[in-house]
Amino acid sequence: VTAALRVAILGAGRVGCSIHRGLTDAGQTPVLLWTRSAASHQAALAAGFPVTTGALPSVDAELILLTVEDSAVASLALHMKARASTAAVLAHTAGALDLTPLDGWPSKGSFHPIVSVASRTTSLASAFAAIAASDEMADARLLELARLLRMGVVHPTGDRARYHAAAAIAGNFPQVLLEAASRVLRDCGLSADEARQAFGPLLESAARNAAALGPSAGLTGPVVRGDVATVQRHLNALAGSDTEALYRMASLIATDLAEQRGAPNLEALRALLARPD
Ligand SMILES: NC(=O)c1ccc[n+]([C@@H]2O[C@H](COP(=O)([O-])OP(=O)(O)OC[C@H]3O[C@@H](n4cnc5c(N)ncnc54)[C@H](OP(=O)(O)O)[C@@H]3O)[C@@H](O)[C@H]2O)c1
Repeated sequence: VTAALRVAILGAGRVGCSIHRGLTDAGQTPVLLWTRSAASHQAALAAGFPVTTGALPSVDAELILLTVEDSAVASLALHMKARASTAAVLAHTAGALDLTPLDGWPSKGSFHPIVSVASRTTSLASAFAAIAASDEMADARLLELARLLRMGVVHPTGDRARYHAAAAIAGNFPQVLLEAASRVLRDCGLSADEARQAFGPLLESAARNAAALGPSAGLTGPVVRGDVATVQRHLNALAGSDTEALYRMASLIATDLAEQRGAPNLEALRALLARPD
């Protein structure tokens, strides 16, 4: 299939291959999927990808994606200068990086899939991508990439570290929350496996509600009921444990959500939560 948007992908890890798969599914097979090491070459081949390896090749594409680890982006961008027309748009997929590592390319951008890409064949469809672009051409090509992958887009501005911290909160803290619940449940006689089996579905349903209804409408529990006595009993139960501070901080944010729902007793709750006994 001849690609209408000619994309080259350098780096056949999870993100590079998942983008390759999405484009192929859209009938727009990338013109190149290259990777550096024999190990990633073998792994991508085994997963069915038409991947090449060896010396960094010359690239003839409209959009060159650097799907390599963050620390390799700048040097790869530099090496591509001798191997591709600078009429191509050069983009990375790193949430933590701004466009500085691509300095020297006229038209550059970033395409950060806001999704946990756990394997080489993770579907990106219906997830969002954060796009940053140096100019209209880069923006247009990255928007076209998102359209082909059936992804939504956002254009975050300002401090990149701030944006990436938000991605860490939403993307990494569900795991942290399950671990915290699991630690508390140890004193209730549940093993880590039992905690995951029993509380995993609770976490999933809460996350689904939050995504579908928004954080305030989806909130349940004692804070949104304004139930000071129950929150006090929770704090007594957690006192001195490594989960107490998390409980206090998360519940304080919950009082802001409860306020949007007109919950009672918020001042009492905030005073209780802010003050370690
Ligand atoms: N996984 C996610 O959930 C996710 C989500 C959004 C964005 N991202 C971003 O996407 C990018 C790729 O992440 P990933 O999850 O796909 O990582 P990955 O699965 O670990 O793959 C990283 C790839 O980078 C290559 N690489 C590392 N150093 C290199 C170098 N100096 N020169 C050439 N290739 C090099 C590795 O190839 P070798 O085998 O040769 O080392 C490997 O193929 C990163 O910027 C990451 O921050 C990841």
